[in-house]
Amino acid sequence: MDPPETLTRTRREALALAGGFGIAPLLSAIPAAAQSRPIATRPIPSSGERLPVVGLGTGQNWRTDTPEYRAALSAILRTLIAGGGTVVDTASNYGGYGFAERMLGEIFGESGLRPRIFIATKVEEHYNLYPSTVKASLQRLGLSKIDLIQIHSGSYSPVSADQDLGPLRDWKAQGLVRYIGITTDYDRGFADIEAIMRRWKPDFIMLNYSIGDREAERRLLPAAAELGVATLIDLPFGGHGSNNLFRKVQGKPLPDWARDFDVTSWAQFFLKYLLGHGAVTAVIPGTNKVEHMEDNLGAGRGPLPDAAQRQRMAQFFAELA
Ligand SMILES: NC(=O)c1ccc[n+]([C@@H]2O[C@H](COP(=O)([O-])OP(=O)(O)OC[C@H]3O[C@@H](n4cnc5c(N)ncnc54)[C@H](OP(=O)(O)O)[C@@H]3O)[C@@H](O)[C@H]2O)c1
Repeated sequence: MDPPETLTRTRREALALAGGFGIAPLLSAIPAAAQSRPIATRPIPSSGERLPVVGLGTGQNWRTDTPEYRAALSAILRTLIAGGGTVVDTASNYGGYGFAERMLGEIFGESGLRPRIFIATKVEEHYNLYPSTVKASLQRLGLSKIDLIQIHSGSYSPVSADQDLGPLRDWKAQGLVRYIGITTDYDRGFADIEAIMRRWKPDFIMLNYSIGDREAERRLLPAAAELGVATLIDLPFGGHGSNNLFRKVQGKPLPDWARDFDVTSWAQFFLKYLLGHGAVTAVIPGTNKVEHMEDNLGAGRGPLPDAAQRQRMAQFFAELA
């Protein structure tokens, strides 16, 4: 399936935006060729609104609050926006209850970035969901409406197939949120997520998918495409632990043929593999480094691998020692 692509932000626009944030020097370090090429966007099936295909996850990296750390995180957000991205994923329990949301809200306020962000957050409760839950997130984030609210689930906090998404629908009807969804981060949870998706048809699901963990290709991505549900990809690099993909390629050169689809780093190799799947709406890699944010945004530019190239990529990765 060929994913639809479009231009969202040019180098000129990005530099104008960066100038306002005082990071033009940072952007000028990005090769002009990379910046002048389009950032791809894809539509949210339920609305047609387009999202840039590379975003930012805040699951692991938003746990400390020192002036230096906050400045670094602020620079990452600015880099995301200046590079054409908008999607930021967080949760009400990241960094401890309310921590990441509050810090994001404060940085949005200080930087003026808030209107340019598509914020995805999550509620921890699976039952007894009340508007006060989402209102607390709204307050921390400094927003009048959340773009995407998701039920937070995964191996540590699984949902069952009978999970009720009715309260999220109500929040959407009340104008508290624009889109609703549910998340997972482990393959064994996919059957339940698929059942929930078929029953409730949320706007989004978030799921784990990487070149090292391709179960989503068999289950969930085909169903999302069939039902018209947008997908956000968590753990695109296999996370921070023993499954982290960079461990496997450390010290190894990229194959020459990766240049055929403008891949200049392992991160782009991993992300372009995912974006080559037509049912993927956006990837949300986590990072606390500006240079990694820039690198990851590069996966949203230029050609994507076709089906045959993706097969070659997966085989190449599987055969790495
Ligand atoms: N159940 C759920 O809802 C759920 C579960 C898991 C994750 N998530 C969401 O998905 C997001 C992504 O998952 P994740 O952050 O756990 O794992 P991930 O994105 O798969 O991997 C993050 C790791 O990759 C490194 N990295 C990032 N960009 C890189 C680059 N260009 N080059 C080299 N290394 C790079 C990061 O290190 P540096 O910081 O040094 O860059 C970090 O160690 C989370 O942040 C969260 O928002 C949701």
